[in-house]
Order: sequence, then structure tokens, then C-alpha cells
Amino acid sequence: MNLPPCFCPENSPTLNLAFQVGDGWFTARGVRFEVEAYTHAGPSARDSVQGDWPACARPWRATHSVPMTSATREPSGVIVEPPLSRIQHYIWNQERAWADRISHFLFGKVLKVGNGLGYLTKFLQDAGIDVVTLDISESSAAVNRGAALLYDGEVFPFKDGAFSCVVFAFVLHHTPNPLRLLEEAYRVGSRIVVLEETYDSIFSKVDLVTRDIYVNWLAHQDAPIFWESYFRSGALERYFAQNGRRVVHYYAEPKRTYWKKLYVVEPHAEPLTASVVG
Ligand SMILES: C[S@@+](CC[C@H](N)C(=O)[O-])C[C@H]1O[C@@H](n2cnc3c(N)ncnc32)[C@H](O)[C@@H]1O
Repeated sequence: MNLPPCFCPENSPTLNLAFQVGDGWFTARGVRFEVEAYTHAGPSARDSVQGDWPACARPWRATHSVPMTSATREPSGVIVEPPLSRIQHYIWNQERAWADRISHFLFGKVLKVGNGLGYLTKFLQDAGIDVVTLDISESSAAVNRGAALLYDGEVFPFKDGAFSCVVFAFVLHHTPNPLRLLEEAYRVGSRIVVLEETYDSIFSKVDLVTRDIYVNWLAHQDAPIFWESYFRSGALERYFAQNGRRVVHYYAEPKRTYWKKLYVVEPHAEPLTASVVG
């Protein structure tokens, strides 16, 4: 396994490192380190050359974990209607897995843009995360009806810096101007967590868009379609770099002919050069 220098025990003499080779993470004194970008030799390695990776992995606030609750009974005792259909059950399981993957990166007050069926919001809240959810409409099948704040879809109704983190979970491509929404996220938050599907070719884009339409229609999940808003692989990385953001964590998994990707993005620590800003 090729590890960045900071993983060498001699560089961290006080840490008692416990590696989980192949799992993509390890813990040291209870702190979780993410290393997928360095250790995956599979399809995600293909993308790992596109980004501007941090020099070494860094500790995350590993305070949250997503409880494995049943679909019907919550820890509080509240009964939640189980997902109604097979496709909703599929989305439920997918979002539970994504909640588990992103919850470690969330801290403080979290704005979640897009509520969908409410599953991901619910899993994050179950993990003890303080989430405000924002949407342009309420899906008829949402499990948390009445919980999402509705707005005009363009300007977040919050003051600058009101949130520590902003989450977009497969939402940006359902908006007419995704880059404008990211700018809103920079305005109200600091760490931005983006889950997006990206395509590599026209064939892959057609597969992604048709599958997106079909799954959301079947699940009764609101999902306006904007052909131009889907991202080609590599485009988001370039956009973040041009806007003075750095990707501090990245994960990609292949799905059919396209990718499901996670970006954790923060303001750049160093002063920007003119060429990067321009
Ligand atoms: C396919 S769903 C994905 C939701 C995701 N699974 C989740 O729970 O975060 C897309 C959602 O984005 C919402 N949406 C679309 N445009 C939006 C916008 N401009 N701002 C916030 N939400 C938006 C839709 O109404 C829908 O609820």
C-alpha cells in the first residue's frame, strides 16, 4: 500500500496507528482517517489523478455514526411508515449507506439542500446531527412531510455563515443553475459536502439521465430534469479549484456506466494565485 509520508509511524510517533488495509480508513487514538483516495486500486484510482488531493489525510471529527434502526421503529419509539415500494426500499438502503459515509464529515449546524424522500435527512438526524433541510417542493412520499423549509430555489433564506456545513446529496443536477447554488453554499457555510453522479461519455450520460428519471418517478420523489446540469467527470474538480476551494476528501464508486462521487470541499487555506482565481 502506498501511503503519503504523514502515515509513517516515524512522522507520528505519538500515535498508535491501527490500519485497516483495504477498508479505506484507519483509526488512531479513536480518530478516524480517510484514505480511500490513496489506497483504492480499482476503478476509483482512475479518477484520483484528476483532483487536487491534499498532501496527506487528516483527522475528521469522528463523533457521529449512523444507527442501524429498523425501517419501522426509531430509537425514540416513534413509528415511521416503512418505505412503500421496492424502489423506495432501495433508496432507503442507499441513503443509509451514504449517511454513514458522510456523517463523519459533518459538524455544527448543517444545511441539507434538497429533502427528497427525507430518508437521508432522517438518518443524519438519527446520528445526532443538527440538520436544517431546504427544498423547492415537498415530495408526496417524503417520510418527514412538513419538515423541509421551502424557498425559491435560488437564494438560500439564511444569513452569511449561518451554517458549519452544507450538504447536496444528488441534488445539484436537479437544479437549473448548480454552480449558482454552490456559490450560495459558500456564502452560508464553510465545509461543503457534495454527492453527485458524473458521466464519462454521451452514452454514460444518457444512461444516467434516463435511470435518474425512471427511479425518481417510480419512487414518487420530486426530481426536475435539466440535461445541461449533469456533470462530466472532472468538471466539479476544475470548478472547485477555479473557485478557491480544495477537495479535502474524495470517494468514487462506479455505478452502471457512470459514477457516484463524494466531495468534501473547504475554502482554500493558502492565498490564491492570480491564475487560480482567474
Ligand atoms: C432526487 S431528490 C434527491 C434528494 C436526496 N436523495 C436527499 O435526500 O438529499 C432531488 C431533490 O432536490 C430538490 N430540489 C430541486 N431543486 C432544488 C433547489 N434549487 N434547491 C433545493 N432543492 C431542490 C427536489 O425537490 C428533490 O427533493
